[in-house]
Amino acid sequence: MPKPLTSESLLKPYVIPQAWAQRVVAWQLTHGRNDLPWQGTRDPYPVWLSEIMLQQTQVVTVLDYFNRFLQRFPNVLALAQATQDEVLGLWSGLGYYSRARNLHACAQQVVSEWAGVFPRSAADLQTLPGIGPSTAAAVASICYGERVAILDGNVKRVLTRVLGFDADLSQPKHERMLWALAQQVLDPLPTVDLAKTMPRYTQGIMDLGATVCRLRNPSCAACPVADVCSARKQNRVADYPVKTRRVKRTSQSYWLLLAATPGGTVWLSARPTPGVWAGLYCAELFTSHQALLKALPAELQSQTQDLPPVLHKLTHRDLHLHPVWLQVSQVQTQSALVSESTGKWFSNTQWPDLGLPAPLRLLLEQLTKS
Ligand code: ADE
Repeated sequence: MPKPLTSESLLKPYVIPQAWAQRVVAWQLTHGRNDLPWQGTRDPYPVWLSEIMLQQTQVVTVLDYFNRFLQRFPNVLALAQATQDEVLGLWSGLGYYSRARNLHACAQQVVSEWAGVFPRSAADLQTLPGIGPSTAAAVASICYGERVAILDGNVKRVLTRVLGFDADLSQPKHERMLWALAQQVLDPLPTVDLAKTMPRYTQGIMDLGATVCRLRNPSCAACPVADVCSARKQNRVADYPVKTRRVKRTSQSYWLLLAATPGGTVWLSARPTPGVWAGLYCAELFTSHQALLKALPAELQSQTQDLPPVLHKLTHRDLHLHPVWLQVSQVQTQSALVSESTGKWFSNTQWPDLGLPAPLRLLLEQLTKS
């Protein structure tokens, strides 16, 4: 670890390398990623859509989802007019479903409050659901050439290493300091060229973090700014960024009632908000095996079969899922399986289009394939 934080390191002047932003811009042109489907446009709709999808998800995973979304919802009005179920259905498998709910709410707000046109400044973009300061800066800099800095995980890594910024980013005031520096490095870019340089800088610093200045095994030999990198001079690249307090992982166990007919009709109910998988359709969830059995009619309790548990990892939480299988007859789908539930039976042509948690979709696909 770098030396512990002292008042001295907070006061130390961080030296911004000469022509840093211009060098990132020049590197992006020849070495950055320039063929992603959301690039080559200044239309904020696809840029915003891609930035939301990319918030917690890698480019390779986003590609298919991005194309499907654009095909189904070619503009912000089409997205605003969709039902939340349809949006969640198309998002299914990308995870972090609050992003999809906010995406939909944001589209509706752009239509109702901004006459269907995305606002042009990062400050106004930030007032919309799901758009934080970094995403707002990405959209405003890429689409409108605004001189405004993004600061996602990749960018924090690049900047802390280059500047030798060793203050602890678990503290909000240090994150604010880094953000101010991220903004300051943009000062030398000539105003007349911003429409060209800002999109490239934003993309370039993200590309640098993702492809060169990686968390593990950074390719310093391929780095365009290795000669001015403070962490490299100290031979402590792996020690940056400094973040001492990490969010503690928690774990939770759920018993899932997977009830299906031989024809693939399944019982699902919409998850309440807030809570795990809010808004998605899911098998009934219980916090104990006993509670699951108690929810069933007496004659079905003895027909359940416990399946091997599944570990599903969320960012800060391990979900231990205990699937309990119950085969029912077509006649039994004439009535509710669980009383006092919002659940319903969905046929094998209906449920695949619903927004389902990824591990549940996998289980249902395995269990209902004939
Ligand atoms: N991550 C966040 N935004 C990105 C972008 N525009 N390109 C690649 N990765 C990203």
